[in-house]
Amino acid sequence: MKLYGLTGGIASGKSTVTQMFRDEGLPVIDADVLAREVVEPGQPALQEISARFPGVIRADGTLDRKALGERIFKSADERAALSAITHPRIRALAKQRTDALAAKGTKVALYDAPLLLENNLQVGMDGVIVVWCDEATQLRRLMERDSITVEQARSRIASQMSLQEKKKRATWLIDNGGALDATRQRVREIVALL
Ligand SMILES: Nc1ncnc2c1ncn2[C@@H]1O[C@H](COP(=O)(O)OP(=O)(O)OP(=O)(O)O)[C@@H](O)[C@H]1O
Ligand SMILES: [Mg+2]
Repeated sequence: MKLYGLTGGIASGKSTVTQMFRDEGLPVIDADVLAREVVEPGQPALQEISARFPGVIRADGTLDRKALGERIFKSADERAALSAITHPRIRALAKQRTDALAAKGTKVALYDAPLLLENNLQVGMDGVIVVWCDEATQLRRLMERDSITVEQARSRIASQMSLQEKKKRATWLIDNGGALDATRQRVREIVALL
């Protein structure tokens, strides 16, 4: 089975494009969904988080993401500690899911991960699709979607690898700065290539 990574900048259109690939019949594994699964109640990662970050588990046993987010927000060390707990589990789950797809005869699948390139997950994959749009469009869509100020949007964009850097690492680029129809057309072209 061929496995391609799909990534892009924040609000560049990854979720939009992922849905288009699904519409074309390609299975997409969503790293954000896996990241939520590994911290569900009963999962070993949640117990480790509870030990390392006391006070982030709610009375009902679920993870208080907001509280955890505030704890790691300001400290690179705290973020690294969290990643050390969750990343190996997310990788293992991703492997399970890709193996299961391959076992049922799937020929091509995508792995959608916002931080694919930051975390070097493209290594061993068959190529990388980068969804991008111009900076002004990215900023505007992010502000509108999340109802945030221009400063907040800028700081979120700045916390990731720049879209310019991501574009350099792409096997295929999808320019999502225009109309959705144009993006869908490009998705169909890439599906034909894959
Ligand atoms: N071609 C387009 N034309 C107009 N609006 C668009 C287009 N593509 C995406 N959008 C809108 O822009 C916003 C960001 O798109 P989307 O949520 O797909 O980005 P994302 O890369 O998945 O973001 P995140 O990094 O936060 O997961 C959404 O509100 C979406 O509806
Ligand atoms: Mg998204």
